[in-house]
Amino acid sequence: MSESKQAKQEIIGKLFVCEVQGNDGEGIGTEKMPFKSLLKAVTHVNGEISKYDVQVRKEILEPYAPAAKAALKKAVKAYEVQQKKAAKDAERAVQDREKAEQQKAAELAKLEAARAIVLEQDSSLPEAQYIRLRDSTAYRGKRVKVSGWVHRLRVQGKDMMFIVLRDGYGQIQCVLTGKQCHTYDALTLTLESTVSIYGVIQELPEGKTAIGGHELICDYWEVIGKAPGGDEAFGNLFTADSSPDLLLDQRHLVIRGDIASSVLKFRSITLKAFRDHFDSQNVFEVTPPLMVQSQAEGGSAIFDFNYYGETAYLTQSSQLYLETVLPSIGDAYCMTESFRAENSNTRRHLSEFTHCEAEYGFITFDDLLDRIENMIVSVVDAVMANPISKQILMELNPNFKPPKKPFRRMDYADAIQWLKDNGIKKTLVDENDNPVLDENGNEIKVDYEFGEDIPESPERLMTDTIGEPILLCRFPVEIKSFYMKKCPEDPRLTESVDVLMPGVGEITGGSMRIADYNELMAAYAREGFDPKPYYWFTDQRKYGTCEHGGFGLGVERYLAWLLNRYSVRDVCLYPRFKNRCQP
Ligand code: 4AD
Repeated sequence: MSESKQAKQEIIGKLFVCEVQGNDGEGIGTEKMPFKSLLKAVTHVNGEISKYDVQVRKEILEPYAPAAKAALKKAVKAYEVQQKKAAKDAERAVQDREKAEQQKAAELAKLEAARAIVLEQDSSLPEAQYIRLRDSTAYRGKRVKVSGWVHRLRVQGKDMMFIVLRDGYGQIQCVLTGKQCHTYDALTLTLESTVSIYGVIQELPEGKTAIGGHELICDYWEVIGKAPGGDEAFGNLFTADSSPDLLLDQRHLVIRGDIASSVLKFRSITLKAFRDHFDSQNVFEVTPPLMVQSQAEGGSAIFDFNYYGETAYLTQSSQLYLETVLPSIGDAYCMTESFRAENSNTRRHLSEFTHCEAEYGFITFDDLLDRIENMIVSVVDAVMANPISKQILMELNPNFKPPKKPFRRMDYADAIQWLKDNGIKKTLVDENDNPVLDENGNEIKVDYEFGEDIPESPERLMTDTIGEPILLCRFPVEIKSFYMKKCPEDPRLTESVDVLMPGVGEITGGSMRIADYNELMAAYAREGFDPKPYYWFTDQRKYGTCEHGGFGLGVERYLAWLLNRYSVRDVCLYPRFKNRCQP
């Protein structure tokens, strides 16, 4: 090539393109790291490809050769098209950004302008009476003020908004129109904000539906407390499908939901129904201490704490204290918390539960069974007679059928036989609780035998199969608490009872108590208890004893059964179980 021609082309470098092994991503155009395409080479030098000696290789075994002119021309063309498109895209992006900024500015301007729109009450209207939403039907046609939380919100066009307001007592649909929808507060309203709404509750014409069959036509409204929007908006915190842990972390907000709030109301009505039942039977309520220094229900599952330098416990049961009040106030009951340091994470165990316990003097075992049965049925009757709890029960457990007296009465020994007859067996284990295997490596299954505790799973299977409430009676001495009275007809057994309900299993445990002083001392000895801390309990046998008995019912299990909830955790305000002690 002549010197003059070289100068004219101003070749300033070499670029390599290997169509087989090149790489447009990582290549840099050298012989070692060639590009894969001519287009990449052109792009690399911003289109000034004529200043370069471009070498191309199409087959791996071929040497590099100067790029064909036509191919170069085509690559330059493609580069120019690409450049034009990029320029257009950039221009559009600028336009989009400007448009978004304009929109935002317009929205801000609209919001600022909205600040100037101030609603005023019409003084010619009758004064609004503040009502709770439970009374909304009674106040139809009158001007009222209602206050509560924005449960649901729907904006329809510029001039209409629907707010479903919730005040804990009920919900009502409120209709806001015209200027009421143009204020700053209207434009920025969020779920769970608190508002007061004034207006008249009107019955809905046929064909239209809303909660309660009416809606509140707003004539004035105001915000009390605005809830956050954006990432922190209520609707972004959780959904019904969120993990159980997240739902429990947010339980303080979850309880605002329809189901959780219904359960809490139902729980309140049920607690009152228990109290009404005892009241109707002239049984007094006591509130025993929950900080104690004796154990009622055996050793392991108990929380201890430092009580001014001494060890004390959170009570497992108030039964022993209830026994002490019989000579003072007669039959007695309590509805307080009991605590069990349960290591198991089952759907029917809590670390803290509401325990409804009662104690009766001068009764027989049969009297006790009747009293338990009567209480369970009478509380069901009471919640069915209350329109609020009845509606909740029908919504949450539409197939519920009230249990009928008398409940099936079954002895523990019959339950063992039932398990045998129905082929419900257990895994044989060695002294270390490891399964024993047969020669083929399979676990060996054996029958439950008299004297053994019937665990939750077979007990549930039996109860669900039988499908009706069962009073399971007369458990062996070894598997029951120290204070239980032995059966006069068979000293291997106790006058004890568990109430089993389909779906949840045991909801109540009770027994006749040892009335005889010497027998009680023997029971302490049998269990290895030091009688000293129980002196006050023993004194009941010393200073005028009587045949007596009682029971404890787990309120959460009773509610889980009635409302067909999966777990006892679902019927607590803030459930406590292993690794969960907040909120
Ligand atoms: O069978 P339990 O342990 O009996 C007693 O505590 C007796 N001292 C009661 C008495 O006779 N006064 O418990 C009675 C009931 C059980 O049937 C169950 O419903 C409930 O209390 N319960 C629990 N509920 C939720 N979580 C737990 N960890 C529970 N432990 C017992």
